[in-house]
Amino acid sequence: MVGGSIHVGKHQDDLREFVSEHHEALAEMPTAFFQVSLSSATEENREAAAGYVETFISDTGWHPDRIAQFGGALRFSEYGFLKRLMMKRIAKDLLEEETSTSSDVEFTDWNAVDAFAADVASFVEGRLGVPPDEAEPAGR
Ligand SMILES: Cc1cc2nc3c(=O)[nH]c(=O)nc-3n(C[C@H](O)[C@H](O)[C@H](O)COP(=O)(O)O)c2cc1C
Repeated sequence: MVGGSIHVGKHQDDLREFVSEHHEALAEMPTAFFQVSLSSATEENREAAAGYVETFISDTGWHPDRIAQFGGALRFSEYGFLKRLMMKRIAKDLLEEETSTSSDVEFTDWNAVDAFAADVASFVEGRLGVPPDEAEPAGR
């Protein structure tokens, strides 16, 4: 499972480089990719979020078996002055409203994260031929 977040319209360079370099090895095993962004937090920006996934796939040549997109978080308490200012601007564009920087905001649907993890686990077990009685119960 490989995952990363979107910063200013892009995934982390290390993530893209790692996957580009190893896409042939990844193609030989069951794999999953998840992306975290603010764009996934609103209906209006879902297309943009999907576009980031498409770009990642075409840039790296890797075709993960399972893909998920999750809303992220604005952790203003951890940002320095410039990052806080930049994120306030990006949040205003994407959420179409002023966001107070005085507290952190989380947009992640953790039930969707749990469901994705369970789906990936059962897919991997199926591909690797793990008998059901040896498979970990979902959620552990
Ligand atoms: C500097 C910065 C730039 C960001 N740019 C975008 C962006 O262009 N599009 C988007 O959808 N989300 C953007 N986000 C939102 C992040 O994807 C989201 O906050 C995510 O939870 C960040 O996770 P991380 O801090 O662990 O990398 C940005 C966040 C930060 C901190």
